[in-house]
Amino acid sequence: MTVTETNPRIEVAGVQKRFGTVEALSDVSLTLNEGEVLGLVGDNGAGKSTLIKTLVGIHQPDAGEIRFDGEPVTIDGPKHARSMGVGTVYQDLALVDALSVAENLFLGRKPVRKLGGVVPVIDEETMTERAERILRDRLDIKLDPDTPVEYLSGGERQAIAIGRALVTDPDIVLLDEPTSALSKAAVERVEQLVEQLKESGHSVIIIDHNLEEVRSMTDRITVLFQGRTVDTLETEAVSRDDIVSMMVSGKPLADPATAGTGQSSTAQHSPSD
Ligand SMILES: Nc1ncnc2c1ncn2[C@@H]1O[C@H](COP(=O)(O)OP(=O)(O)OP(=O)(O)O)[C@@H](O)[C@H]1O
Ligand SMILES: [Mg+2]
Repeated sequence: MTVTETNPRIEVAGVQKRFGTVEALSDVSLTLNEGEVLGLVGDNGAGKSTLIKTLVGIHQPDAGEIRFDGEPVTIDGPKHARSMGVGTVYQDLALVDALSVAENLFLGRKPVRKLGGVVPVIDEETMTERAERILRDRLDIKLDPDTPVEYLSGGERQAIAIGRALVTDPDIVLLDEPTSALSKAAVERVEQLVEQLKESGHSVIIIDHNLEEVRSMTDRITVLFQGRTVDTLETEAVSRDDIVSMMVSGKPLADPATAGTGQSSTAQHSPSD
């Protein structure tokens, strides 16, 4: 799982975000390279979800910079983020139980056609066709698009949440705990989806508390501690214990043989890293 591409798609530099007296992000820096899967780990409250929400413009940073393809950007909100090719699966899933699989996939962005060339109406046929295609080609899951989401298993719901992030055909995918509360088989399905995304050239950030899953899915891992970046390391170069030690101490690894880029995790790795 060597990182061959080092073209930065997203760079986060010294980002801060405060909610009243809570400093959710105090100094976060990371780079998502083209075609890589980057793991984001850290204890509860470390700021992982806040960072994802800042990347899609749900929150605006109080300080620091976010760059897309090298250009500093202000992201207005999720719609703007989607228009820049970013698809997101949020931690709280937010599927609407009473709605069908197809309606959930296209929630808020259903295809419309013009009745009599004038009046916009939801194009149910196109929606069903596109839903079938996403279920079959992207998720490899056998489900009727008309099934209400309330009847789905946890794994199926998670797949639909991921499918929803893929509807706009993003090339960057942000996944906030897509495997939490899933059975082993369902976790494997998510792992396969992440693998497929990588193989098709997507750049992925994945948040996951299960370090074995993180280690099997990612190329590099960024550790957050109390709202700041501890370090970013090549997955192959770190053990589970190394990651735990950084997560609990908030300090980079002491051993220079395995230590990464220190606080300035935006630095590029040299081939000898
Ligand atoms: N909208 C908000 N208003 C106030 N405080 C918030 C808000 N969002 C997050 N926080 C606080 O910011 C801190 C970071 O929260 P965040 O959800 O980013 O953590 P996390 O790393 O995703 O944790 P977990 O692993 O439990 O999901 C927490 O102390 C949280 O209570
Ligand atoms: Mg979270």
